[in-house]
Amino acid sequence: MAILVTGGAGYIGSHTVVELQNAGYEVVVLDNLSNASEKSLQRVEQITGKPVTFYKADILDKAAMEDIFSKESIDSVIHFAGLKAVGESVQKPWEYYNNNITGTLTLIQVMREHNVKNIIFSSSATVYGTPKQVPVTEETPKGECTNPYGWTKSMLEQILQDIQKADPEWNVILLRYFNPIGAHKSGLIGENPSGIPNNLMPYITQVAVGKREELGVFGNDYPTPDGTCIRDYVHVVDLAIGHVKALKRIEEKAGFGIYNLGTGKGSSVLDIVNNFQEATGVPIPYSIKERRAGDIPENYANAEKAYRELGWKAQYGIKEMCEDSWRWQSQNPDGYGE
Ligand code: NAD
Ligand code: UD1
Repeated sequence: MAILVTGGAGYIGSHTVVELQNAGYEVVVLDNLSNASEKSLQRVEQITGKPVTFYKADILDKAAMEDIFSKESIDSVIHFAGLKAVGESVQKPWEYYNNNITGTLTLIQVMREHNVKNIIFSSSATVYGTPKQVPVTEETPKGECTNPYGWTKSMLEQILQDIQKADPEWNVILLRYFNPIGAHKSGLIGENPSGIPNNLMPYITQVAVGKREELGVFGNDYPTPDGTCIRDYVHVVDLAIGHVKALKRIEEKAGFGIYNLGTGKGSSVLDIVNNFQEATGVPIPYSIKERRAGDIPENYANAEKAYRELGWKAQYGIKEMCEDSWRWQSQNPDGYGE
């Protein structure tokens, strides 16, 4: 039996394929390569020494998905495929709702037709909106999202929950990621943003490698100790291992479950800059800019439920996240070179 990983050539997907193969799972990857390079999967093979079965296909393409489900004996799906750029989603809402929601509904339709009823879904801390209190637990009410990307996550959570409720044979696990950064220790795979990075760590590593002049820190007048926003940064390898643990839970017939995947520790933008400089010895020039629209002052996880029920706990700290992000970027200044 195999695990189908949609979006498996992407950043979190490729790291998860490594951990799945290391844990002995047979993996089939589906990706349309809209935001990824097939080279990531060649690197995965280099790391694990195992071949990856890959289909270049779109989750919106029902016929292509039917073909994959007919050829492969798929037991469970880990569903990463989706568009994720917050700013772009404001400009192109239809494209985001269509790709993420219609795509997921098509995937679920094909799963049903093939009697595959196990799914792990990539959700996000963004579903909490602006939380009244931190840390957030899974019981913290969901909030208003500030952009269509966030709404696709929030709506897909509801859709998957309703499907499981109507048919309890389904096992549905929603994983709410906080801020994934870092890369595999080998430096062979990592985050490969196209164009100017939107997120903090890829921007920092591109400054470090000389591709950008300086980091803009978006606001230093927030109600936090140093005035910059606080987030829960979590190592992508820890996140990947979280998926293997969630899969074990599905094998025990989990039914429905929601888990925060974070470290439980908040770090400010300047904490990250300072830690990066200390961990790598590379200076990061920065200047303070205006606040970025839609940013919330502070968000970090209470991740005790994931520990209690999945036996998952983040092992890596900020130092390793910075070292590993830097190893990837410095060894691959142009990412996968495409
Ligand atoms: P990514 O862009 O690297 O990976 C997503 C992959 O999905 C890409 O390889 C892309 O080519 C593929 N894809 C997109 N649309 C597709 C389609 N219609 N058919 C087939 N493949 C398609 O992003 P990532 O950072 O690895 O994120 C993975 C998932 O986790 C996404 O759903 C994202 O929204 C979610 N998530 C990411 C973060 C983060 O900070 N990176 C945080 C919370 C949630
Ligand atoms: C963003 C998205 C969120 C998504 C998450 C993970 C927004 C409002 N939210 O979260 O939906 O799930 O990415 O991909 O975009 N920062 C700078 N300078 C930079 C870049 C970032 O100061 O050049 C600051 C930001 O203001 C923020 C922190 O760094 O305070 C982290 O930013 P980022 O990495 O974009 O993550 P989030 O904003 O938490």
